Amino acid sequence: MPGLLLGDEFPNFEADTTIGRIKFHDFLGGSWGILFSHPKDFTPVCTTELACAARISDEFKKRGVKMIALSIDSVEDHRHWSKDVMAFNSEAGSPLPFPIIADDKRELAVQLGMLDPDERDKEGLPLTARCVFVIGPDKKMKLSILYPATTGRNFDELLRVIDSLQLTAQKKVATPVDWKPGDKVMVIPSLSEAEAATLFPNGVTTKEVPSGKKYLRFTQP
Ligand code: BEZ
Repeated sequence: MPGLLLGDEFPNFEADTTIGRIKFHDFLGGSWGILFSHPKDFTPVCTTELACAARISDEFKKRGVKMIALSIDSVEDHRHWSKDVMAFNSEAGSPLPFPIIADDKRELAVQLGMLDPDERDKEGLPLTARCVFVIGPDKKMKLSILYPATTGRNFDELLRVIDSLQLTAQKKVATPVDWKPGDKVMVIPSLSEAEAATLFPNGVTTKEVPSGKKYLRFTQP
């Protein structure tokens, strides 16, 4: 993803969306945000993804995360497509619970490095890849993932990642492989044993390993 790195301030772009024109930072306010891009409206994988995002939108809300999608079509197309998405969820007539950015000129797709060179529309223009950006309340980019157009994402994984980002923003811990909320976490390597003992009153257990190095330190956050 050229140009935009973890920790960078996320661009305060202006765009037309299904809820009107927005300035991205104003849209976020003081919340966490998730922006996920889609190759094209009225396409099958994108429709399943948006439908899933809509079904679990309350889970993002619970975590204080504002959702916004992007696809390289117009607001009018997005409004029509949203009806299909909600019908796919057997909720025809209900509104899509988050806005979609219209990027029909591909300006944001270029600015944010989201084009997939392998997938093109009928005119031969590249489609957007499946990008996900998670933005913190400080407007800095906390996570980015980039899938090709041909692979749909796992939105439960996005919730899991947000749980980890929000926990590790508060505590000096890191979450191990396949971590889920409630599981033990790992004490970050930069903390001394004394600091860890003070910060984690629930205790720290250290797994013995052949190297004798005490880096596998678990705690209950
Ligand atoms: C889809 O959403 O189904 C899709 C879009 C572009 C390329 C391949 C699949």
